[in-house]
Amino acid sequence: MISPDAFIHPNAIVEDGAMIGPRTRVWAFAHILSGAVIGADCNICDHVFVENKVIIGDRATIKCGVQVWDGVTIENDVFVGPNVTFTNDPFPRSCQRLDEHPQTIIRENASIGANATILPGLEIGKKAMVGAGTVVTRNVPAMAMVVGNPGRIKGYVDARVIEQPGPIPGTTRRKLGVRGVEVIELPEIVDLRGKLTFGQAGEGLPFMPKRWYIIYGVPSPEVRGEHAHRHLEQLLICVHGSCDVIVDDGTLREEVHLSRPTLALHLTEMIWGIQYRFSADAVLLVLASETYDPDDYIRSYDEFLELVKGTSR
Ligand code: TYD
Repeated sequence: MISPDAFIHPNAIVEDGAMIGPRTRVWAFAHILSGAVIGADCNICDHVFVENKVIIGDRATIKCGVQVWDGVTIENDVFVGPNVTFTNDPFPRSCQRLDEHPQTIIRENASIGANATILPGLEIGKKAMVGAGTVVTRNVPAMAMVVGNPGRIKGYVDARVIEQPGPIPGTTRRKLGVRGVEVIELPEIVDLRGKLTFGQAGEGLPFMPKRWYIIYGVPSPEVRGEHAHRHLEQLLICVHGSCDVIVDDGTLREEVHLSRPTLALHLTEMIWGIQYRFSADAVLLVLASETYDPDDYIRSYDEFLELVKGTSR
C-alpha cells in the first residue's frame, strides 16, 4: 500500500503491493517492485531500483542510481550515497538464480559514501561510515570508518582523541572522561646499562593479576578487541611499538595512543575496548584480573549498550 501522504513522481514505477510509508518521496525513474517495504520520510532519488525482498526503514536516503537487491535491509536513518552498489550473490552466473540470498543489513544511522560496493551477506554496524568508493568485504563494526579496497578501518566516529595521554603533571595518573579508565605513568629507571620500568601493588598495579596475555604480529589493518568484559579489569601496556586504544563506557568514547612501556592504561569492568593501528613492531602486554573466561565477554555492542544503560557515570 502506498501511503496517501507519500509523493510518487509521475515518472516513477511503483508496482502494486509495494509498501511506501507516509511522506516518503519517490523520484523520477525510480522502480520499486511489489514486495518491497519502505518506511516513512524516506527519499528515494532518481533511478533507484528496489527489488522484492527489501526492507527500508524510516528517514533513509537512497541517492540516485542505487539498486537495492533481494536480501538487503536498510534500517532507519541510513544514508546511501549515489551509485552505491549492493550485491547479493557471491558467485554470480548468468541465468542461475539463488533460491535464498545472503542477508545484508545496514544498521541505523550508518552512511555509505558514493560508489561504494558492499559484498553479499555483510552487516554494516550502527553509525558506521563507509568512505566513497570503498569495497566492503567484511562486516563493519558499529561506528567504524572504513575506506579503501578492500575496506579497512581507519578510525571510529565520535571518538575523542586524547592527544597527551600522560598523567596530570606532578602525579602519576590521569582519569579519562570514560568511566573507569585511567592512564598510569610507570617509573622509569635509567642508567648506563639501559632502562627499566616496573609496577607493583600500590605502585602502578591497580589489581592483582591472575593472567597476562600478549598481542603481537598484528597485520596493520587488523583490529583487536571490539568487546567488553562483565567483570574483568585489564592493564594495557604497549611495551614495544605503538597502537591506539578506543575505550567506551556507552556514553563517551575516547582514543588513547600507547607508544611507550612506561604508560599503562587501566580499564575496569564494562568498558567497550578496541585496539587498532598496530605498528608492525607493536607488542601489547595485557595484565588481567581473572583467568580466561569466554562467558565474561560481551561481543555485541548493542548488548553492551543495553547493559550499561541507566548505570550512573
Ligand atoms: P580474543 O579475545 O578474541 O582476542 P582479541 O580480543 O584480542 O581480538 O581471543 C582470541 C583467541 O585467544 C580466542 O580463541 C580465545 C583465546 N584466548 C585464550 O585462550 N586465553 C586468553 O587469555 C585470551 C585473551 C584469549
